[in-house]
Amino acid sequence: MREFDGRVVVVTGGARGQGAAIASRLARDGASVVVGDILADEARAIVASIGDAAMFVPLDVGDEDAWRHLRDAAMERFGHIDGLVNNAGLLRPGTITDAEVGDLRAMIDVNLLGPILGIKHIAPAIAEAGGGAIVNTSSVAGAAGITGLTGYAATKFAIRGVTRVAALELASAAIRVNCVLPGRVDSDMSDIAGSRRDARGIPLGRVAELDDVARVVTWLLSDAASYCTGTDIVVDGGVLAGFGGRRA
Ligand SMILES: NC(=O)c1ccc[n+]([C@@H]2O[C@H](COP(=O)([O-])OP(=O)(O)OC[C@H]3O[C@@H](n4cnc5c(N)ncnc54)[C@H](O)[C@@H]3O)[C@@H](O)[C@H]2O)c1
Repeated sequence: MREFDGRVVVVTGGARGQGAAIASRLARDGASVVVGDILADEARAIVASIGDAAMFVPLDVGDEDAWRHLRDAAMERFGHIDGLVNNAGLLRPGTITDAEVGDLRAMIDVNLLGPILGIKHIAPAIAEAGGGAIVNTSSVAGAAGITGLTGYAATKFAIRGVTRVAALELASAAIRVNCVLPGRVDSDMSDIAGSRRDARGIPLGRVAELDDVARVVTWLLSDAASYCTGTDIVVDGGVLAGFGGRRA
């Protein structure tokens, strides 16, 4: 018997990067996964690599109708939903004095409104299934200021608040809601930030591999985390621990 046998989990932003790693790991551990993303070709490739246990549903997380469609499609195919990983994210750099309004709004839509809409439309299905778990995705930029990331930091701080409210409101439905705060991860998003493989300032001396984060997310979804809700787990190689660690 595998950890997620019989469970159905929705993963947003599952077309590449951490979302793809999370979807693949969940499927390997027995889950059926519903990959929602705006990148149709990449998402179809991930779903094909997983096989019958996966399906792709086009999803722009900021679009409420798209969430309704994803929920209905997932219910029709699998009959129930037991978990949600709000992983989709967008990073557009900008200092406080040069941030573009369009970029700020886009990040609010993807990083904040998206997870809220996801919980709004998927949590009732999870409750119907008797409970389950939701994982939101913050960042070290949601716990400390990083120059040049005004809008990104705002949304990543905010999602930690949403996590707590959702945990309180959904506890009676036996739904746990937690949040991960990755540090620098070897993914396309880090290319935008110009630091994909830059390990300077990371006490453990390396950037995170996709699976470093995926393992923690799947743990939070699993029964091993059955008494954790409304909390954060930092997955950053020690960056937020303080000062004086390794400086490569
Ligand atoms: N890469 C890092 O260093 C890092 C660090 C901390 C937190 N994070 C967070 O981790 C999560 C995953 O990031 P990643 O590193 O895999 O980045 P990534 O850019 O490789 O993947 C992000 C995914 O989100 C999808 N996405 C973007 N906008 C969307 C939308 N409107 N609707 C649906 N899907 C959308 C993209 O198509 C992509 O598949 C994000 O929430 C990100 O903010 C990343």
